[in-house]
Amino acid sequence: MTAPLFRIRGLSKLFPAPGDSDGEKSVKALWDVNLDIEQGECLLLAGSNGSGKTLLTRCLAGLLSPSSGEILYRGTPLDRVKKLHCEAGLIFQDPDSQIVGETVEEDAAFGPLNAGFSKAEAKERANAALKAFGLDDKRDVPPRRLSGGEKRRLAAAGIFAMGCGTVIMDEPFANLDYPGVLSFLEAIRDMKKEGKTLVILTHELEKVLAFADRLVILHRGTIRDEGKPEAVLDRLDPSWGVRDPRRTYAKAEDCSWLGE
Ligand SMILES: Nc1ncnc2c1ncn2[C@@H]1O[C@H](COP(=O)(O)OP(=O)(O)OP(=O)(O)O)[C@@H](O)[C@H]1O
Ligand SMILES: [Mg+2]
Repeated sequence: MTAPLFRIRGLSKLFPAPGDSDGEKSVKALWDVNLDIEQGECLLLAGSNGSGKTLLTRCLAGLLSPSSGEILYRGTPLDRVKKLHCEAGLIFQDPDSQIVGETVEEDAAFGPLNAGFSKAEAKERANAALKAFGLDDKRDVPPRRLSGGEKRRLAAAGIFAMGCGTVIMDEPFANLDYPGVLSFLEAIRDMKKEGKTLVILTHELEKVLAFADRLVILHRGTIRDEGKPEAVLDRLDPSWGVRDPRRTYAKAEDCSWLGE
């Protein structure tokens, strides 16, 4: 039997409790998380604010060390995997923290350059991704001058241009207008067809649930449920803070989450 792409075992992340100067108390931001992620699956990770989604995927991308537990990538402990950044790309929740280039084009080319593509190839890949995300007319603009949604599009373009086998997207739809969401969904659909492994953290399940093979619910740092999306939604506990997206509104006057 082949090892899963990622195997998370007993993963915990603790932080010192606020005001605890002698470090005796701690906050369990992640606690005993166990999860296998198979190659080529599209996994949605949902849960309320502060439930640990971003921390978990930062550990998965090798950007954060857990307090205990381990992550295996194709059976090898993550800290022994070289060049994971080329295998697994993470689109950050905060696009500002992902900006590295002086211009939009330079920024989008940074990832593919880092992944080992030649300068010409990196430029070509960057420009194709910028086009897909409607940023081709902003190539020479400094990224800091982009709007919030444009920065998110740029962050996505940079990661998609790397061509990683796994792409982790942290709140990809936040700040995006309707065409921006569609660009993202088209990219997700195409990557899924190519057999890429996708991990999507979102509060906006209604936008992307159709692509999901599995839905995982995180609550207060632990996994509360996981499985086929339909089954998990049927079992949703209101305290998890996740809205069942299987609702439609026929009239404008019904369009409010209050009273659902
Ligand atoms: N460096 C840190 N020090 C202390 N606590 C932290 C630190 N980083 C994260 N936390 C805490 O860990 C918890 C989980 O944070 P995380 O960012 O993973 O939540 P999230 O599920 O991604 O939430 P959101 O939906 O708001 O993005 C939060 O309560 C957060 O305050
Ligand atoms: Mg988060």
